[in-house]
Amino acid sequence: MFATIKFLHFFSLMLGATAGFGNMAVALHVKRAGIPAPASLTAMRPFFSKLGLGAVGLIWLTGIALYLMHYTSVDLGIAFHLKLLVAALLFAGVVVINRMGAKAAAAGMPPPPALAKLGLATTALTVIAVALAVYVFS
Ligand code: HEM
Repeated sequence: MFATIKFLHFFSLMLGATAGFGNMAVALHVKRAGIPAPASLTAMRPFFSKLGLGAVGLIWLTGIALYLMHYTSVDLGIAFHLKLLVAALLFAGVVVINRMGAKAAAAGMPPPPALAKLGLATTALTVIAVALAVYVFS
């Protein structure tokens, strides 16, 4: 059971990274296109945003399960608490990305430029969380 949940923890990390780097690739290609980007390209944004939301939700659920199964009596130290802080910021960032994207789409507007920056920040947070996790559990 523990191994299955750990697999899902890694799987959700893989999905989250895909969403982050995918959104970055779309933003880059839209910017490079210069002309209004083809709908088929911009349609990938909400897909990656929702994928990211699902992934960060699953990484929290599996993380809590892993913690409750093996670590409730273990002091995992400040690095683990930093990892949780980074994971919480990531969750908040992904929620904001989804809300801003949905709001812009509902208004028939292109996503605000801040969205690409937020996407970059959430991808960086994912990488930092991985580094902290490997530091704590290796
Ligand atoms: C962005 C968020 C997260 C990322 C990228 C992430 C990544 C990872 C990685 C890469 C490992 C394996 C470390 C290793 O074995 O060397 C791991 C293990 C673990 N993570 Fe996370 N994690 C995240 C969020 C969380 C959260 C929110 C929790 C708890 C609430 C959590 C709890 C755990 C636990 C308990 C383990 C140890 C599993 C074991 O004993 O092998 N993680 N995480």
